[in-house]
Amino acid sequence: MAAETSEQTQEELILGFLADGGEDFTSGEALSSKLGLSRTAVWKHVEALRGKGYRIEAAPARGYRLVEVPDRLTQLELSPLLSTHDLGRAIHFHETVGSTNELAFRLAHDGAEHGEVVVAEQQTAGKGRRGRAWISPPGLNLYFSAVLRPELPPQRAPELTLVAAVALTEVLRESGAEAFIKWPNDVQIDGLKVAGILTELSAEPERVHFVVLGVGVNLNAQPGHFPEELRSTATSLAIARGQRVPRALFAAALWNRLEEWLDLHLETGFAAVRQRWKELSSTLGQEVLVRTDRREFQGLAEDIDTSGALLVRTKDGSIERVLAGDVERLRPQVAGGR
Ligand code: BTN
Repeated sequence: MAAETSEQTQEELILGFLADGGEDFTSGEALSSKLGLSRTAVWKHVEALRGKGYRIEAAPARGYRLVEVPDRLTQLELSPLLSTHDLGRAIHFHETVGSTNELAFRLAHDGAEHGEVVVAEQQTAGKGRRGRAWISPPGLNLYFSAVLRPELPPQRAPELTLVAAVALTEVLRESGAEAFIKWPNDVQIDGLKVAGILTELSAEPERVHFVVLGVGVNLNAQPGHFPEELRSTATSLAIARGQRVPRALFAAALWNRLEEWLDLHLETGFAAVRQRWKELSSTLGQEVLVRTDRREFQGLAEDIDTSGALLVRTKDGSIERVLAGDVERLRPQVAGGR
């Protein structure tokens, strides 16, 4: 077991160096001196990685270059791509789980540390907000839940959902899609949902025990993978940009960005997150229909406040503060109305 682990670590290190090299070749000599291994040992590790589905090009006198990473989401694929200090440093990978949130919650309850992440290829009981299901077919998308142990009072924990929405939207934009945040934390492309966030909290009145931050992103799903009733409201990054998405690259970019935002949030507070959320949101400035557990009303979505609640100006000119619910954009009223 120990030998297996150290082999894996050597392979992760090689992948890390190759990933850092990007399009460039990394010489066999550089790899062997960095790892303290013979050139033959480096070559054997490269062969082992090829056997696991990595495409690594070798050129005489130039070295090795990473061309393709297998479409898997285990520690081996993800670790070399991460620049995080905590997030994703321990990965609990599963082919199938009920819900990554449920499992992460149990692990956190049993002592999992800040930054540990549960990733699954498939969820059989993926959970969405407000008791809805999250459709989670195997091998196509990204489903993960991170255990966070932030130094925050419980009433500030909901801010973490907005932190995640900001990171997610930025990474989707950098991946070639015009993504926006729809309050509170749906991420959309072309008005269709591409990702969702579900945060769950364990706390006592004065103290957060832990937060489970669950994120589902439709990466490579095609319309046929969505149930009929979702086809007109859901999309994926691959549909939007017309190209398959390398999932490990996307997941690592997201975790790297998420940790940067989590750090900034912890160090400087909510203001920068709120500002960025507003820049990335499609909800503000829209006439919306608000649905909460208790009621429905219409109004103009004007702002979010310093705790992330939506501020909606109603017909009588008063401001309603919405902490939880759904919003639906209303068509602008056409003058002379039809
Ligand atoms: C929403 O309704 O918008 C939130 C969806 C959150 C889905 C993710 S998938 C990974 C994690 N595990 C779950 O069961 N749910 C979240």
